[in-house]
Amino acid sequence: MIPYGRQTISDDDIAAVSAALRNSLITQGPVVEAFERQFAAHVGAKHAVAVNNATSALQLAMRVAGIGPGDRVVTSPITFLASANAAVYLGAVPDFADIDAATYTLDPAALAREWKPDTRAVVAVDYAGQACDLPEIARVARSRGAVVIGDACHAVGGSFHSAAAPGRSWRLGGNPWADMTVFSFHPVKTMTTGEGGMLVTDRQDWADHARLLRTHGMVRERDHFVLPADDPVLGEKGPWYYEMQDLGWNFRMTEFQAALGISQLGKLEGFLARRREIVAAYNAGLADLEWIHVPRLRHPEDVGTASWHLYTVQVDFAAIGQTRSEVFKALAAEGVLAHVLYIPVHLQPWYRKVYGYGPGKCPVAENFYAHAMSLPLFPTLEDSEVRHVIESVRRLGRSAARTVGVAA
Ligand SMILES: Cc1ncc(COP(=O)(O)O)c(C=O)c1O
Repeated sequence: MIPYGRQTISDDDIAAVSAALRNSLITQGPVVEAFERQFAAHVGAKHAVAVNNATSALQLAMRVAGIGPGDRVVTSPITFLASANAAVYLGAVPDFADIDAATYTLDPAALAREWKPDTRAVVAVDYAGQACDLPEIARVARSRGAVVIGDACHAVGGSFHSAAAPGRSWRLGGNPWADMTVFSFHPVKTMTTGEGGMLVTDRQDWADHARLLRTHGMVRERDHFVLPADDPVLGEKGPWYYEMQDLGWNFRMTEFQAALGISQLGKLEGFLARRREIVAAYNAGLADLEWIHVPRLRHPEDVGTASWHLYTVQVDFAAIGQTRSEVFKALAAEGVLAHVLYIPVHLQPWYRKVYGYGPGKCPVAENFYAHAMSLPLFPTLEDSEVRHVIESVRRLGRSAARTVGVAA
C-alpha cells in the first residue's frame, strides 16, 4: 500500500539521534539552540523558538501577540484542526473566512468581507505547501489592527513570489507580511523531528516571551529575577532559585528531536526538489483528464519554490459516475491510499455546537471538500510508483467510460 505521506529517515538521521541520546542533557539544551539558530538562518528570520509541536507554536504565537478572551481569530476552513483550536485554548473565538477557488488558500477578499470588530489575528495557512497571498492578507489585517500569523506547517522550506514585489522571492518565515510564522515537523511534513514545531519572528520581545512560556513561565537567570533581595521569604537568591513570572506550559523539544531536525534540515532542499519532481509528473500525467483539476499556482515562478506537502486534486466524481468512497476503494485495490485533506473545520460537530457554524458559511471551501482527493506524495516515492498512481487514477475514468458504454 502506498500511503499519502511518509517520513524519509536514513542512517545519518539515526546516527545524529543516537549521538544526542549519549549526552547528559537530553531535553532542551544546546542541540535545540543550534537547531533554532540554523532554522532561523534557513528561513531568514531573526529568531526561532523550537517547541514540542506546531499546535503549541500557534498557541505561543497567539499568546505573545496578546490574543485572549474577547478576541476573534480568523483562519481558513481548509486546514488541520490545530489552526483554529489554538485560538480556543486561549479563550478567543475561532472564525473562518472562505478560500480562493484556484489555490485553496485564504481569500483576502473573503477575509475583508467577514471582518468583525473583535478580529485581532489572522492565521494564514499555506495549504498543501503553496504560500497564501500574504501581501494581500497582511494589507487587510494590518489596516484593521490585527496580527498575521503564518501557518506554514505544510510549507517548511518553501518560498514564494508575489505580484506585489516583482523580481523577488520570499521565504515563508522570512518575509515582511507575516508577523510570526509557525512550522510543523510531524512525520508527514516536508522534514520531521517525530513531533515538533517552530515559531519564528523578527521581534526579540515576542521570541523572549515565547521562550519563557514554553517552560511554565519560569526564569532561572539571575539578571531577570523580579522579587527583591528584601523579600521576607524569597530574598536569598542561591543556585537553587527560580521564579515563575507568567503562566506558561511545558512545550519543550528534546535534544534528540532537535538532532534529527538539524540532520533533516540539511537534506530539506533535496526532499523539496523530489517533491516538486513528483508534482510535475502527476500534473503531466493527469492534466488532460477533464474530470480532474490538478493544483494551480498563484504565481508561475512558484513552480520552483513551492514546498509541496500535499498533492490534492479536485475530482468531478459525477462525471465518472462514482462516489468518492467507490473511487477510494478502487484505488485501494490498486494499492494506492488516497486521503481527503481537509474536512472544512467549521463543519466539525464541535464547531457547529459551540459557535453555531454550519453548511453555507464558506461555500467555496465546502465545494472544494466535495471534490477533494489527496494522492501519495513523499520523497521516497519511486518513479514506478508515481506512474502506478497516475495509471490507477486514469483507469478510474476508463472504467467509467466502459460502464457508460455498456449502459448505452
Ligand atoms: C496547517 C496545519 N497547522 C497546524 C498543524 C499542527 O501541527 P502539529 O501536528 O505539529 O501540532 C498541522 C498539522 O497537521 C497543520 O497541517
